[in-house]
Amino acid sequence: MRYLTIALTKGRLAGQTLDLFEKVGISCEEIRDKNTRKLIFVNEELGIKIFLAKGPDVPTYVEYGAADIGITGKDIIMEENRKLYEVLDLGIGKCRMCVCGPLEAGERLKHHEMIRVATKYPNIAKDYFYNKKHQTVDIIKLNGSIELAPIVGLSEVIVDIVETGSTLRENGLNVLEEIAPLSARMVVNQVSMKMENERISKLIRDLREVI
Ligand code: PRP
Repeated sequence: MRYLTIALTKGRLAGQTLDLFEKVGISCEEIRDKNTRKLIFVNEELGIKIFLAKGPDVPTYVEYGAADIGITGKDIIMEENRKLYEVLDLGIGKCRMCVCGPLEAGERLKHHEMIRVATKYPNIAKDYFYNKKHQTVDIIKLNGSIELAPIVGLSEVIVDIVETGSTLRENGLNVLEEIAPLSARMVVNQVSMKMENERISKLIRDLREVI
């Protein structure tokens, strides 16, 4: 039997995904060991390989077929826009992609004034402002702690993930517009979906029952 290879997103999401996998009989103790530097884990009995990758790389592994299946956030799937099938919403890691900023920026946003938008998600921001809102903005790519940008005057607003809202609250920012609801999704390589249809379909069915 050929190994079915699954790419998980490193970090919080990996733990929650493994909890779900355990419920459908896919266990991999070794992968939960925080001290291990190992990158790939094999369950010989099930013919499954699981590896951990940085979120934005998961769709890349899946598009090229280095992984048959990937589990990652809808934010990353939207941003990367890779050729793959999105087959299942796992209902974990729920949050929202939003335009956020101080309330004054909300007014400038409403009047379609030229504003600067800082974000880790330039493609999502572009698609939202250019294609959906037909609004010209200046997009500034950052790599983290995006909430800093409007505070220090780098941008008027940000496009970022809001989960509990506490980062915004603690920094005097607000949700100004909601772009999309987010959660973890299962994605599948387009060739694998045909070649390994039986095993992948069974995994989707099993997961659906425990979600
Ligand atoms: C994410 C996101 C927000 C925060 C939202 O950042 O970019 O900053 O979480 O969560 P909250 O609404 O529950 O406060 P993350 O911690 O992933 O790190 P980053 O700032 O480096 O992107």
